[in-house]
Amino acid sequence: MNKTKLLLDKDYKIASLGKRLYSTFVEHLGRCIYEGIYEPGHPTADKNGFREDVRALVRELGFGALRYPGGNFVSGYNWLDGIGPRAERPKRLDYAWCSIEPNEIGMDEFCDYAKSVGSEVMYAVNMGTGSPQDAGYMVEYANFPGGTYYSDLRIKNGHKDPHNIKLWCVGNEMDGPWQICHLDAHDYGKKALETAKIMKWADPSIELCVCGSATSTLPTYPEWDRLVLEYVYDKVDYISLHRYYENHGDEIDFLASFHEMDGFIKTIAATADYVKALKRSKKTMMLSFDEWNIWYQAKTQLKQWEFAPHILEDNYSLLDAISFGALLCTLINNSDRVRIACLAQMVNVIAPIFTEKGGKAVRQTTFFPFAMAANNCLGTVLKTMGKTPVLESKSYGEVTAIPNAVVLNEEKKEINLICANISGERQCLELDMRSFGRAVLAEHQVMSGDLSAVNTLNDPDRVKPKFMDCSGAAVEKPELILEPKSFNLFKFKL
Ligand code: AHR
Repeated sequence: MNKTKLLLDKDYKIASLGKRLYSTFVEHLGRCIYEGIYEPGHPTADKNGFREDVRALVRELGFGALRYPGGNFVSGYNWLDGIGPRAERPKRLDYAWCSIEPNEIGMDEFCDYAKSVGSEVMYAVNMGTGSPQDAGYMVEYANFPGGTYYSDLRIKNGHKDPHNIKLWCVGNEMDGPWQICHLDAHDYGKKALETAKIMKWADPSIELCVCGSATSTLPTYPEWDRLVLEYVYDKVDYISLHRYYENHGDEIDFLASFHEMDGFIKTIAATADYVKALKRSKKTMMLSFDEWNIWYQAKTQLKQWEFAPHILEDNYSLLDAISFGALLCTLINNSDRVRIACLAQMVNVIAPIFTEKGGKAVRQTTFFPFAMAANNCLGTVLKTMGKTPVLESKSYGEVTAIPNAVVLNEEKKEINLICANISGERQCLELDMRSFGRAVLAEHQVMSGDLSAVNTLNDPDRVKPKFMDCSGAAVEKPELILEPKSFNLFKFKL
């Protein structure tokens, strides 16, 4: 068995990490909203039609922000369709996903939902068919106290208090040729700048996120990011990154996806820093990784003009969960720049939760690494030092066999380590924590076993973490055993 030594020191800090890194995404797509969070007539539906069984699982994941309403959907969405009396809301063709959109849920219902699960809203405005003026009206409707047309309309629609949405996305993936009314970098940069000005005039306290590369595989990456930032650097607070990974058949490559994500983040941070230097700016641009996940895109097939179609409903295996967990470690270790990250998406659509119409709500395998991190890894991210074993991957060369992240929670006096072992061998990890004195291992959760296992409606608990016995004494250098191809959480009490 390989033995790896990792040193932690309380003075080697990466960043302080809050809930926004554990955000998610709710799009009007497939069954994310309809039959996902919202299903009037479901046995657990509340008086507004929201499923309590799903809400309970959403709460278990403790999301920081819920990005809404899209996604590709938003680039053809008229937000006015989703406010006011439900009976008067129009049914529309959604060109992004070839679906029928009934508009039963809109900004007001969604903001109420987010509040009920303890999350903030990250609202995306339409930069496809929409205008800078529409974006200003949305901010006015959501955040202005009253006495103007749109703020009074919100009050008339039953919301006396403003929604106070702080986070706003200036469009979605406008570099993608698939986007409704896709723009080139110059046209988007100019439109985003004018939109940002209006939105911040309407409410100077909001934070804006501009569209960066929709994926690192587009030919315009990272030139798009440079050009767009040159237009908007002074006016926005974040640039977005989106990236999905899938298993193309080479297991090591798939498990090493975190390596690509790390390079993507570092490239966008460097691009933003170049623009900072060019502008002689004192501001450092932060990153919003507001769509990330495993997504079997090659298998995605759209349906024609259905309401709430079963699309993008990937069923995740244990192998997927391990690769996913390693991606989470990468986000945490880059949290000095990545201040927001949204797991895309929340329910049914490439999601940690899936539902049966009129029936159950189930935790997918990816639910668990997310819950381990979101519920435990909050506080100060620590740098780990040491030489971990490496694996040779086809696409990325040498990668660590033990992607990991460590977070100190000073208030709770605990250290939480999440790590994957992506090798096929057992590994021993010796954690040198002497700068903290002695620590007791209080919890060890592990996910390992049949890598192809999935959770289904008939077998919803097939894959879940095992809680290991942790009855040891306090030590300075705990030795941790990592099962082959596993994902782990270790909690130490200081
Ligand atoms: O999350 C699914 C889709 O992926 C989103 O609508 C879009 O932004 C991205 O391409």
